[in-house]
Amino acid sequence: MEIKSDFIVIGSGIAGLSFALKAAARGTVSIITKRSIRESATYYAQGGIASVTSIEDTFEAHIKDTLDAGAGLCGRDVVELVIRDAPARIQELMQRGVKFTSRTNGASTELDLGREGGHSKRRIVHSEDLTGKAVEEALAAEVFSHKNIAVYENHIAVDLISHSKFVKGGQAPGDETVWGAYALDKETGLIHAFAAKATVIATGGAGKVYLYTSNPDIATGDGVAMAWRVGTEISNMEFVQFHPTCLYHSKAKSFLISEAVRGEGGILRLANGEPFMKRHHPMADLAPRDIVARAIDFELKRSGDDCVYLDISAKPPEFVKTRFPNIYGKCLEFGIDLTAGPIPVVPAAHYVCGGVKTNAFGATSVKRLYAIGESASTGLHGANRLASNSLLEALVFADRASARAIALASEGAQVPEIPEWETRGAVASDEAVVITQNWDEIRRFMWNYVGIVRSDKRLERAWRRMTLLKNEINEYYWNFKVTSNLVELRNISTVAELIIRSAQLRKESRGLHYNIDHPERDDVNWKKETVIRIGDERGKPTLA
Ligand code: FAD
Ligand code: SIN
Repeated sequence: MEIKSDFIVIGSGIAGLSFALKAAARGTVSIITKRSIRESATYYAQGGIASVTSIEDTFEAHIKDTLDAGAGLCGRDVVELVIRDAPARIQELMQRGVKFTSRTNGASTELDLGREGGHSKRRIVHSEDLTGKAVEEALAAEVFSHKNIAVYENHIAVDLISHSKFVKGGQAPGDETVWGAYALDKETGLIHAFAAKATVIATGGAGKVYLYTSNPDIATGDGVAMAWRVGTEISNMEFVQFHPTCLYHSKAKSFLISEAVRGEGGILRLANGEPFMKRHHPMADLAPRDIVARAIDFELKRSGDDCVYLDISAKPPEFVKTRFPNIYGKCLEFGIDLTAGPIPVVPAAHYVCGGVKTNAFGATSVKRLYAIGESASTGLHGANRLASNSLLEALVFADRASARAIALASEGAQVPEIPEWETRGAVASDEAVVITQNWDEIRRFMWNYVGIVRSDKRLERAWRRMTLLKNEINEYYWNFKVTSNLVELRNISTVAELIIRSAQLRKESRGLHYNIDHPERDDVNWKKETVIRIGDERGKPTLA
């Protein structure tokens, strides 16, 4: 079956839904999403959205904090435009019905502002500690009631429909165009062609590449992998952010303890109760995330302990319960009382700063293909993302990309005839264990060899294992019927490969990429993005 619309949006987090609502004012939109509409990283976002809204704050300060965190690799123009646009995007969310937490100040009411690592001011607009849920629910409700938007839940995009590979009358790979995506209906097992004049990747992050992650299960890097396969430029994949504080508990699945807890006075302590962050950075517990995560990694390796502790028990219990109702409640489910004493925490993979390289309007290096949200690499984050700049980036780029995509769709080009998906004699697999085995292996060696602290040898080991696994996964992929698990495994392996490849290319330490064999930042040779493209020899790492 072929489904035609003006715009196809792959993903239903803050980026995809925001884009869809804007584009739907001027055309038809199909949203493809692999689980229910709400299942996204967005839904679980806690801390909030960074924006200058207080008279005690300035755009210049937010810009400086973002540039400082980014360790010399942010695109200054992009930083400026995102931060100056932030207040308008917050207003828009409020008009769409998102209720942010406010407080009274004398006779007036104002937004309550949180603080997080790397921010010199309080500027995080939030909805208690469930900001993402408030945003996602408001956007999803509006999307469902929009006459121009069709939502395809439980549909997983398998591959982009690239002109050179799928459409008759091929196009040179360097001059690629995308005309939509093939997506698997997980309920029927059928693959449909979704054809459109503009295709938007809004598939979020790839935390599931690592053994321990704060991310939900959807975060398998599908958009980046699909874009890579059609020859799109991918940048900065070595910069993977590890959140310093996820709950350490066998049943908690790396539940996030928001950085806002440290913003309200939470202190990191060793097992013996000693606070340690002052030894690592003048901003102590509110240092940028890369520094805090590395400090914890250092202390754990030194002590041999399994976790460090986060302590906000000096604050009145009522304050903690009101400010962090979700975190407080979730911890209690595991028998841990946030108000009573230090709680066990560890770092976990949280955010991929790199992704599909775009310009300042979300356009990729491939025609008619846009990327927004966490799957994009826009230049905002550089080598390390400032806390709560991600939801903001998604809002700003959804707005900018929709304007461009609307203009493109109105130019009148006809979508070419799209062939049906070919199964090529594939049969149903009787060995699902191959998928779980490979998936576990990748996540484990990525954690051990390509984690917070890297070395040339560890990266080389990871690369060797990845090469072996890649061949096995590809063989499996082409011989058996496509399933959702297989699609995700293939994408996870591609993203792991891109992270290793990019990390091997960068012979220095900067921001989130720390290599003990090249411990210094090298501004002479490496103050540049890592840009790679399939088949591009310059993108290949040299193995020792
Ligand atoms: P997502 O919200 O992840 O949405 C991706 C969508 O794509 C999902 O609907 C998914 O199902 C769909 N999808 C993926 N692959 C496919 C496919 N092949 N086919 C179809 N659909 C697909 N950032 C902040 O700025 N502030 C915060 O307070 C904050 N807190 C966070 C807390 C947690 C626990 C986590 C995990 C992240 C947090 N972040 C925060 C980061 C931020 O939430 C994400 O970067 C942001 O939500 C990404 O939005 P997105 O729309 O790009 O992707
Ligand atoms: C948090 O609440 O600590 C997460 C914020 C973010 O990832 O930006």
